[in-house]
Amino acid sequence: MTTAVLTARPGAALRGCLRVPGDKSISHRALILGALATGRTTVTGLLEGEDVLATARAMQAFGADVVRTGEGAWTMDGKGGFSEPADVIDCGNAGTGVRLIMGAMAAFDIVATFTGDGSLRKRPMGRVLEPLGRMGATWIAREGGRLPLTLKGGGLSALTYTLPMASAQVKSAVLLAGLGATGPVEVTEPEPTRDHTERMLKAFGAELTVADHNDRRVVTLQPGARLTGSVVAVPADPSSAAFPIVAALVTPGSEVTVEGVMLNPLRTGLFDTLREMGADLTITNRRDASGEEVGDITARHSALQGVIVPPGRAPSMIDEYPILAVAAAFAAGDTVMRGIGEMRVKESDRIALMAAGLEACGVDVEEEPEGFIVHGTGAAPRGGALVETHGDHRIAMSHLILGLAAREPVRVDEPGMIATSFPTFAGLMRGLGGDISEG
Ligand code: S3P
Repeated sequence: MTTAVLTARPGAALRGCLRVPGDKSISHRALILGALATGRTTVTGLLEGEDVLATARAMQAFGADVVRTGEGAWTMDGKGGFSEPADVIDCGNAGTGVRLIMGAMAAFDIVATFTGDGSLRKRPMGRVLEPLGRMGATWIAREGGRLPLTLKGGGLSALTYTLPMASAQVKSAVLLAGLGATGPVEVTEPEPTRDHTERMLKAFGAELTVADHNDRRVVTLQPGARLTGSVVAVPADPSSAAFPIVAALVTPGSEVTVEGVMLNPLRTGLFDTLREMGADLTITNRRDASGEEVGDITARHSALQGVIVPPGRAPSMIDEYPILAVAAAFAAGDTVMRGIGEMRVKESDRIALMAAGLEACGVDVEEEPEGFIVHGTGAAPRGGALVETHGDHRIAMSHLILGLAAREPVRVDEPGMIATSFPTFAGLMRGLGGDISEG
């Protein structure tokens, strides 16, 4: 039975040590590269959330042998390429899944039809179809390049492409398609975005260079690489760690340590921002895990101050603005978040929904076309609302964290969607002493 509502009630301080699930971005990429490679790929720490499980099923449909051998432990036997799937590929709620898989399949002379849930069917796919089309792929899609759509790959040519927006998904789709192109693909980014595809392509044997041209990051992939199965240890997801960390910062008396969190600098903008707000965050035990730096992050309850978040930092924390807005609601003064129009095309319009949810909880928010300003008072907000999440996992988790430290309980609808990225969220928060329950 699916729960209609989850409620977070204010109360105890949060204390303890926890591990959050594996990084979602790396989990999708491990499955896709494992399926493209020849030979065995062994993955540990895979995020077993709905989004990633949809990608695992898709990789099976494209011909890879994908086997779960234990908790977070998977083996993939790739066939060195994709074969044509017999049925429609349903990527569920996952924008990363569908966009990366479309790029990967475009490298092969096959046809596939993609769909997803109600949220994914509203999201723009033209941003991926446009560069794939320039390379030679063809498609039929709904108005505005929406899912469901049918893509035909194969016969791709070289491409020199400047991304119109900072998007790791679009960059990754072009690079993956480039594996099957007749010449190099060169992608220039307006701002550096997460570089997991680049790092992992190299680890699987691709020839790829990263350079700076006029202050812009340029990634060049040489065609014809034969990817070889590899070993991937997925580190803990900083985007999930953000929730218990902010919970500890805003709940009096709290001290929480999240272990083994990935510290790739293209993902840690939230932690920099929280520190600027006066957060007591310490990172210990920094170490390397499968080519990514990880560390244990300890957060203690802190008196936060509002800040202006530099717009250029957006790509390194694009999924973290909802939970930053919650921290801002407890801070003294204004927190200004601008240059984040991309938030409007995530699993929901996150600017609109955060503004509405926080307002419903008694927080003063000013919405702008490409950002928002949270007017914090330095005291716990009222809470006491049922927040509409529109099926967006991060909107749900952010408001539940607010409810743990607000003056009155906060309820969220459609909490089942939390399982797309962080299936253990409620249990882990309860383990720290947080009062989150059904109904
Ligand atoms: C992701 C990139 C980001 C992010 C998403 C994961 C990735 O999306 O919001 O959750 O794994 O490449 P965009 O590339 O659309 O910014």
